[in-house]
Amino acid sequence: MTGSDQLPRTLSEYYSRARSGMSPHNRAYFLAGSGDEQTAAANEAAFLQAQVTPRMLRDLRGGSTEMSLLGQKLAAPLLIAPFAYQRLLHDEGETATARGAEAQSIKMVLSAQSSEPIEKVRANSSGSDWFQLHWMGDRENTQALAQMALAAGYNRLILTVDAPVQGVRDQEIEAQFQLPPDVSAVNLAQFTPPRITRHENARSVIFDHIAETLPTWEDVVWLIESLQAPLLLKGILHPEDAAQAQRIGAAGIIVSNHGGRVLDRAPATLSALPSIIDKVGPDYPVLLDGGIRRGVDILIALALGAKAVLVGRPIACGLAVAGDLGVSHVLRLLRDELEIAMLLSGCATVEDIHREMVHLKL
Ligand SMILES: Cc1cc2nc3c(=O)[nH]c(=O)nc-3n(C[C@H](O)[C@H](O)[C@H](O)COP(=O)(O)O)c2cc1C
Repeated sequence: MTGSDQLPRTLSEYYSRARSGMSPHNRAYFLAGSGDEQTAAANEAAFLQAQVTPRMLRDLRGGSTEMSLLGQKLAAPLLIAPFAYQRLLHDEGETATARGAEAQSIKMVLSAQSSEPIEKVRANSSGSDWFQLHWMGDRENTQALAQMALAAGYNRLILTVDAPVQGVRDQEIEAQFQLPPDVSAVNLAQFTPPRITRHENARSVIFDHIAETLPTWEDVVWLIESLQAPLLLKGILHPEDAAQAQRIGAAGIIVSNHGGRVLDRAPATLSALPSIIDKVGPDYPVLLDGGIRRGVDILIALALGAKAVLVGRPIACGLAVAGDLGVSHVLRLLRDELEIAMLLSGCATVEDIHREMVHLKL
């Protein structure tokens, strides 16, 4: 453990401690948002502007945070969001995070850009079988990545669709962020990027280089049909996209703006949620991430219709400050705070958390 022997007492203390101990490189990579960081800030601000009106004197006996999602029992409506290159923060990176998650019976989504080998992480996270895919440039490579995850025992797959290109990362450029030689996306080493045909009348440097390697809805339909596992789409913000995901048989969606790391000025995820739920109805599995910093934020997201939430940066901070213990402690704090928020607002179970409890001052 770095600094004092005492663990921080709150997520914001984890953040300050992690931030002050991090290299400028890591600070830029893990903590910053893209552009002017308006979307990253808006994610957190949206939760601060929500108000919860509690109910009193209800019978709370037998209550708990347990729930089920896609046929799986979860100890709480909370998962660890996929985030890349965790060995930048800790020698054992994703493996340490997996152990921390396991200690709290919380599921972790492993990023395709994990810096630890997939089998090693899986061996340390018997309870977590969630894996996040990137589109790998073409169908063949993407299918191969999905098969690698399935073969390692990951049965719930997420395709991230909101990052066809990196956002404008001023802070990473400023810090001259580069991966050190001993940290890489080890599980992607075997994949060769697809050949890009140069067009005769090239009009745009970025479009011409990458547009033909990007997926469309047709590719996602193909992927869903070719997989023997549920596939969720991560990075949905528009109600029509949510409806399309539902129509084509995606097992669910994650309302996300990648923690404000891609399109700066995209809406806060909490603000985008209600119209998505209106569109897809209350039963479709809609998850949300971005800006969750307190247990009560989980309650707010659930009240507005999310089935569960994912957290990214708070876990990175836990890992940076105290390895697997820090990850476990951050999760414990969130779970305990959620439980307290449920008790204080009169909800015995997550099903009792309702829309009318929350007022959005947006
Ligand atoms: C450093 C970092 C790396 C990330 N890498 C990935 C990734 O590899 N795949 C992915 O789908 N999302 C990635 N994300 C986005 C997270 O999954 C998640 O959407 C976001 O962190 C949630 O916001 P929060 O950090 O405010 O909780 C990354 C986020 C961070 C902060």
